[in-house]
Amino acid sequence: MAFELPSLPYGYDALQPFISKETLEYHHDKHHKAYVEAANKLLTETALENKSLEDVIRTSHRDPKLTKLYDNAAQHWNHSEFWLCMKPPGHSHIPSDISKRLDADLGGLEKFKKDFVAQGVADFGSGWVWLIIDSGRLKILSTSNADNPPALGKTALLTCDVWEHAYYIDYRNDREKFLKAFVDNLINWEHVAALYDKATSQRRAA
Ligand code: FE2
Repeated sequence: MAFELPSLPYGYDALQPFISKETLEYHHDKHHKAYVEAANKLLTETALENKSLEDVIRTSHRDPKLTKLYDNAAQHWNHSEFWLCMKPPGHSHIPSDISKRLDADLGGLEKFKKDFVAQGVADFGSGWVWLIIDSGRLKILSTSNADNPPALGKTALLTCDVWEHAYYIDYRNDREKFLKAFVDNLINWEHVAALYDKATSQRRAA
């Protein structure tokens, strides 16, 4: 089964003024699309064609012969998740369960925002910043290039793309300003809460 480019869950202009229509058009229609097309082309040269995206990521991550497939499949997963992690400004409210977990594990919402931004700014080169759940606790994680929590056996709850193509049109080289706009205005907290509920119910069932 070939991978498919998902539609954005909002209009191209829905995240303005924090992410422009031009950025979303380039980021989704050019960059993400290119990862999907490259992954599909590379997939035909393997025995993984009938595997899920997550299985392809985990298998190719362990195989040095499949590095290009891993990079493109993981970037497809990362971008698909990134679109879902955002909501038009003013439309998301943090559910109390997640708010309490942030208090308990990361020192509260404002401390989380500060640390998430600092982690994203500190990363050298291209990559991603994540909120993950690991052994029942929330943690902030950063990864380089295409690396992601599923490849590392972790569960992602939130991500922000810190490749330059994510912010250069709107913020030029100011990654910190972009990250602050993301944590203050764009996070889809209902999506984070849904992923958290899923992860904790799976953990209880295990
Ligand atoms: Fe990107």
